Amino acid sequence: MHHMSLHATAEALVAPGKGILAADESLPTMAKRFARIGVESTEQVRRRYRELLFTTSGLSEHVSGVILFDETIRQHTTDGTPFPRALADTGIIPGIKVDRGTKPLAGFPDEVITEGLDGLRPRFDEYVALGARFAKWRAVIRIGAALPTPGCLEANAHALARYAALAQEAGLVPVVEPEVLMDGTHSIHTCASVTTTVLRLVYDQLARQRVDLAGTLLKPNMVLPGTGSGEHVDDTEIAARTLAVLRDAVPAAVPGVVFLSGGQTAEQATARLDALNRRVPQPWELSFSFGRALQAPVLDVWEGREDNVEAAQSALLERAWLNGAARHGRYRS
Ligand code: 13P
Repeated sequence: MHHMSLHATAEALVAPGKGILAADESLPTMAKRFARIGVESTEQVRRRYRELLFTTSGLSEHVSGVILFDETIRQHTTDGTPFPRALADTGIIPGIKVDRGTKPLAGFPDEVITEGLDGLRPRFDEYVALGARFAKWRAVIRIGAALPTPGCLEANAHALARYAALAQEAGLVPVVEPEVLMDGTHSIHTCASVTTTVLRLVYDQLARQRVDLAGTLLKPNMVLPGTGSGEHVDDTEIAARTLAVLRDAVPAAVPGVVFLSGGQTAEQATARLDALNRRVPQPWELSFSFGRALQAPVLDVWEGREDNVEAAQSALLERAWLNGAARHGRYRS
């Protein structure tokens, strides 16, 4: 019974034409995003900004779910409606980021481990009471001369699997996010081989921890050349390489793959999602869980000004609509 609804939630999150809005920036990340547009990050400004996003009329046409941050899931709209309720009322599924960010991995210079497993079971219970129906945990893998190391990959894959098992125990769909960063001078070939290794380890650990894959979603990076590599690869090849990796490493029982944008421009992320969806059918839905690629254009228009709210909401709706088109391979940039 429990699992029936997990499966239904996972499938609803990757319904045709729809994807996820990641609005779960931590306090330091939100401060960084606001600093770019000259806005000070206070609790009230963050609340107002997230309200702008969540009350965009028509958002649910192409946005199936929204990932919230711990502060955000406790905030309310100006008229006093809790954000998770406001979202659910429009047919959008509320989710929650539960990892506590990365820390240096002891003994592994330049590599990080994601923290947050201690005390996670009671936190899940609280988030369920607050209305969350899915969760996210992000592991971060850096490519470098001798990186990533097997020790770092193993520790992060294990943590992802422990998190996913606890999420399912609480009745939430775990979004499993092992992000191989695009920073670096590595080739697309290296990104492909590292991403394959990472995903195989993650699925090995998920099986060991008895995670029900049909009640999960994968949130991976697209397979891209390093930003400092100077390599230029067109969207068709990015899609082909990404799908080759996924087909090698991701079990067909997983209902959907929701890509992160990871520092690609909004246009790049959408164009590549479109290219991916021109190569269907695949075993899984190919969707999005974009943060920056949905929000950067909104922040640019908003500038922290009340009189720009409507225009900012139009910018969000436009990106959502374009990504919705890309879900069908029908995006035109
Ligand atoms: P980006 O799409 O900006 O990478 O953010 C998605 C996300 O939630 C990262 O954890």
